[in-house]
Amino acid sequence: MAGTPVSAHDCVARAAGAEEAARERRGTGYTVIELKGAGYSYGGDGILGGVNLRLDGGSFHFLTGPSGAGKTTLLKLCYGELKPSQGQVDLFGHDSRTIDRDGLARVRQRIGVVHQDCRFLDHLPMAENLSLPLTASGRESAADADSLRQLLAWVGLSHRAHALPPELSGGERQRAALARAIIMDPEVIIADEPTGNIDWEMSQRLLTLLAELNRLGKTILVATHDLALIRAAKSQVAARVLRLAGGQLQLAGSDL
Ligand SMILES: Nc1ncnc2c1ncn2[C@@H]1O[C@H](COP(=O)(O)OP(=O)(O)OP(=O)(O)O)[C@@H](O)[C@H]1O
Ligand SMILES: [Mg+2]
Repeated sequence: MAGTPVSAHDCVARAAGAEEAARERRGTGYTVIELKGAGYSYGGDGILGGVNLRLDGGSFHFLTGPSGAGKTTLLKLCYGELKPSQGQVDLFGHDSRTIDRDGLARVRQRIGVVHQDCRFLDHLPMAENLSLPLTASGRESAADADSLRQLLAWVGLSHRAHALPPELSGGERQRAALARAIIMDPEVIIADEPTGNIDWEMSQRLLTLLAELNRLGKTILVATHDLALIRAAKSQVAARVLRLAGGQLQLAGSDL
């Protein structure tokens, strides 16, 4: 892998002080996202039925389950992209069904998302694509430019900063998507198959970054088919493993 690797801690160290302070203000045991009997249907049969899930601040969860089980759908409920057809989803204490547009925008700023089909603006170089959230929020600064450089280095994309998205490999896109998700220093990171197209070594590096972010207090929710990744994570983070099947969510056993 090209680029000069720096530690994940370097990437997020600047955020650490603010995050620690925020945690102290909030105390421990606070809930960031909660599904209360949440169900979802795209019009036909229900995909999710009556799902209960509470994500506490600073927790780390994996979400597994067969293809088509509804993992992406559940994640979309968790970041307000979809509203539940039944039950309720609270995002930082706000009911996603009734929150207004501005409120939802504020909530979304606190959640970084790595999409399963990570999309970029194809006419803009990667560095500009990644800094778009900063530009859009009007808070782009020298410190943020430095943060972007460090993030690019950590995910091994320094040499691709000026490349256009269509020129990237699948794995490079995934790494860029993770960098984009954390550039705004969100409290929650939701990643949908973030290691879907990348080799084992890079999967491990992404996992290490997610684990470091978690140690800094970020709440992490990762959908993945990769049971080997989940097993590897157990030595790094205290992660809970959720399994979605038949529209229901269960805590997976320790036999993974
Ligand atoms: N926009 C949509 N309109 C209609 N049906 C949809 C839509 N999006 C997803 N579905 C269906 O809902 C079901 C759950 O899809 P979802 O993408 O949540 O599954 P998943 O568990 O993430 O699958 P994978 O592991 O393949 O990513 C699937 O049967 C899918 O075809
Ligand atoms: Mg999916």
